[in-house]
Amino acid sequence: MPMSTSLQVRRSGPLRGTCSVPGDKSISHRALLFGALTDGVVEATGLGRGGDNLSTASALRALGVDVQIDGGDARVRGVGFAGLRAAAAALDCGNSGTTIRLLAGLLAGRPFATELRGDASLTRRPMRRVAEPLRKMGATVEGRAEPGRPGEIFPPLRIRGGALTGIRYDLPVASAQLKTALILAGLQARGPTVLREPGRSRDHTERMLRSLGAPISVDATGAIAVEPDGWDGRLRAARIAIPGDLSSATFLIVAALTVPGSEITVENVGLNPTRAGALDVLRAMGADLSIEETGDAMGEPVGRVRARAGRLRGTRVDGELALRAIDEIPALAVAAALADGETVFADLAELRIKESDRIAALARELGRAGVGVEERPDGFVVTGLAGRPPGGGTVVPEHDHRIAMTGAILGLTSADETTVPAADILTSFPTFAETLVGLGASID
Ligand code: S3P
Repeated sequence: MPMSTSLQVRRSGPLRGTCSVPGDKSISHRALLFGALTDGVVEATGLGRGGDNLSTASALRALGVDVQIDGGDARVRGVGFAGLRAAAAALDCGNSGTTIRLLAGLLAGRPFATELRGDASLTRRPMRRVAEPLRKMGATVEGRAEPGRPGEIFPPLRIRGGALTGIRYDLPVASAQLKTALILAGLQARGPTVLREPGRSRDHTERMLRSLGAPISVDATGAIAVEPDGWDGRLRAARIAIPGDLSSATFLIVAALTVPGSEITVENVGLNPTRAGALDVLRAMGADLSIEETGDAMGEPVGRVRARAGRLRGTRVDGELALRAIDEIPALAVAAALADGETVFADLAELRIKESDRIAALARELGRAGVGVEERPDGFVVTGLAGRPPGGGTVVPEHDHRIAMTGAILGLTSADETTVPAADILTSFPTFAETLVGLGASID
């Protein structure tokens, strides 16, 4: 099904069957990027096929790395940190915050200048969080200033890397992108780097880099130590099996929980606990879920999730649970819209600076479909309809794949037909519509 135009989403009969989702976007970025830093050939299977992962692949190629992608299979010929070459032109990070922030940390230690840019959405995202600590370590990082936002910088970023010194740093925000950038800089620095987060963000980087032999440890308090002194600077090449993306799966799971009579199974999906808060939220809402761990892929737990439609009740999503479900809040907002009672989403100020202002976008899209939403500075409150929303109209994704998919799954239970511009969905889940159609959804 072509995804370049619009989807027409209608109220659907039961969704049934077994499906899988494309590879985890976060882990795919890391497999490509860390693969480039190894001393051999990294073969990865199950690579995510969205635009974000392709942005990381093409940026690495521009830095002199041989990256070949064939469907879900990737082959990266590692060049090590020292083998990266200055790019001939600015690197286009597209819509991908992970690409720009991880590359910023990597390039902070390389002895050349690089410009990193992106699309209209990425160009509005704040980069001071990475610039500040990287400057403290010794890199030159400049960005675009904006009137009324003193001290903040935005892409394009210009980075001139150099000799770095390790730092002890308390991250102002729990962010895996920031943490990973500083770990990559720390691996190239003189002396140890010790990082503390105000909450525990997803730990894919720590798991994968340790498997590849990087000198990283995490203590009982969650502090991360990078100790490069005495390390030969080489990551060991390995085969990497990337599990399916739980963020993509959550849209299908919420669709199955809310379309009456549905029962689906999603196979081979990543279940990393620092990432799987959405499943805990859905369980707290009374969802009929069964989760079976079936294996482990390079330190990442993998399994299958079965979801059966039924009544959901409102809940509260805040604190560490909110952090562990940060990317799934849009899908969870649909579950909240169709539940009995109120759901409070709090401690989610970070959602305002994702691919769109997701708090404003969700309030707008749920409101358009006839769901009561109260917007707050750090979240929103949804009054569940305990039934079908009126729906109808056209979703405005604002360059945000997850807002487009939210509008689509809400459309599956809505009385009136919903139009969803589909182009942004390519960012993370190009097979979204065909997977839903395969399960029985009414989407043209
Ligand atoms: C990601 C980290 C999260 C997440 C993003 C992917 C990653 O962002 O929202 O979609 O792959 O490291 P932050 O680390 O900025 O919270």
